[in-house]
Amino acid sequence: MAVDLLLGLQWGDEGKGKIVDVLTQDYDIIARFQGGPNAGHTLEFDGIKHVLHTIPSGIFHENAVNVVGNGVVIDPVIFQKELDALKKFNLDIKSKLFISRKAHLILPTHRLLDAASEASKGKAKIGSTLKGIGPTYMDKTGRNGMRIGDLELSDWKEKYRSLANKHEAMISFYDVDIQYDLAELEADFFKAVDELKQLTFIDSEEYLYQAQKAGKKILAEGAQGSLLDIDFGTYPFVTSSNTTAAGACTGLGVAPNQIGDVKGIFKAYTTRVGSGPFPTELFDEDGETMGRVGNEFGATTGRPRRCGWLDLVALKYAVRVNGVTELMMMKGDVLSGFKKLKVCTAYNYKGEQIEHFPFNIEAENVTPVYSEMDGWKEDLTKMTSADQLPKALNEYIDFLEKELEVPIKIVSVGPDRTQTILR
Ligand code: GDP
Ligand code: IMO
Ligand code: MG
Repeated sequence: MAVDLLLGLQWGDEGKGKIVDVLTQDYDIIARFQGGPNAGHTLEFDGIKHVLHTIPSGIFHENAVNVVGNGVVIDPVIFQKELDALKKFNLDIKSKLFISRKAHLILPTHRLLDAASEASKGKAKIGSTLKGIGPTYMDKTGRNGMRIGDLELSDWKEKYRSLANKHEAMISFYDVDIQYDLAELEADFFKAVDELKQLTFIDSEEYLYQAQKAGKKILAEGAQGSLLDIDFGTYPFVTSSNTTAAGACTGLGVAPNQIGDVKGIFKAYTTRVGSGPFPTELFDEDGETMGRVGNEFGATTGRPRRCGWLDLVALKYAVRVNGVTELMMMKGDVLSGFKKLKVCTAYNYKGEQIEHFPFNIEAENVTPVYSEMDGWKEDLTKMTSADQLPKALNEYIDFLEKELEVPIKIVSVGPDRTQTILR
């Protein structure tokens, strides 16, 4: 049985949590393969809104097992808070949620290092979520990291101490004023580790291999988006993992020839939270309307998200890098009421018109070339089938499908599970 992927194609927050929750009814296993608590995945059903950070978005379904794969980085303190928030749902966490022994641990000092690094950058800061993601992946690739499986060994506290001591020296290297009480942070960390150790740790690549052999259906849930990918994103304003399709292979131990459908998800417009280039960003009333109607505030940090028109140059790039086989368009409802809609179809790049995503997309190099389309005024949020969608929205969708050469299979018209239209 092939493993399907669900990936964000923009700068994150496309609505992955909602769609994974909707799709889980068709899957036996939902597996996260990269990122950590920098992610904020929102699900809504029965009038309840829930934000998940590290736990996969299939957790509310009885039929599915949720796996946190080796490519993920885990902060025990945040993980515990997520579990606490789930308590009222009476889920059988021990048998529904498995954690890879090879996943890396975020230490309190990783978070401090993230803060020190950002503070030292001044205006050039990345706008990190300050969850310690960069420093943890640096320790992973530098071969110094601590993994979940280490917690099962008797000497894990010695390993912890030696790494934390090194981090403290590194923090003092940055010439910035970071106030912290390590003893307090460590007390929280050790308590959370004790609770984490009550959960089920597995060799997740072996588990997923056997599950595939047994014919189980597996969906890999991406975090962040393709334009935040460490290799293909807008470096250095990116996260520290491979958010693209290849990351699912290394982050779960699934072979490339075992990948099935690649589901790519995008908003009908574009948002970005944090720093970095964003060619179609709006600084006018239209951008303000998208932010207000779309309630565009970060699910992890609460920061307002920057908003702009859909960027087809960037979206085509993401479709190609990931090998997307089907698309899902989110938040079309937010665009209701715009008289005209713009879609960026090319860049003016250093005096030349180009249609590919270049090395450098800073505002001084790129101005977007737009196609203009008619908007629609109908409220989409109560619509339940494709034949109810307004003509202008269908024209928008047809235009995107033609440009992207991939079918749009789902149109989402609101945050709730039920506000999902299949085409
Ligand atoms: P993720 O990180 O990709 O899971 O996305 P986030 O949860 O960070 O952000 C998406 C936001 O949009 C959440 O607040 C969702 O509840 C909301 N949302 C998802 N789909 C739709 C939609 O079709 N319409 C509207 N209005 N909101 C949506
Ligand atoms: P989900 O999974 C949107 C952004 C941060 C910052 C940059 C680096 O909810 O889509 P990091 O903390 O990784 O060092 O931050 O990446 N970022 C996200 N933006 N959605 C996310 O996740 C993000 N995770 C990180 O704002 O610009
Ligand atoms: Mg999010």
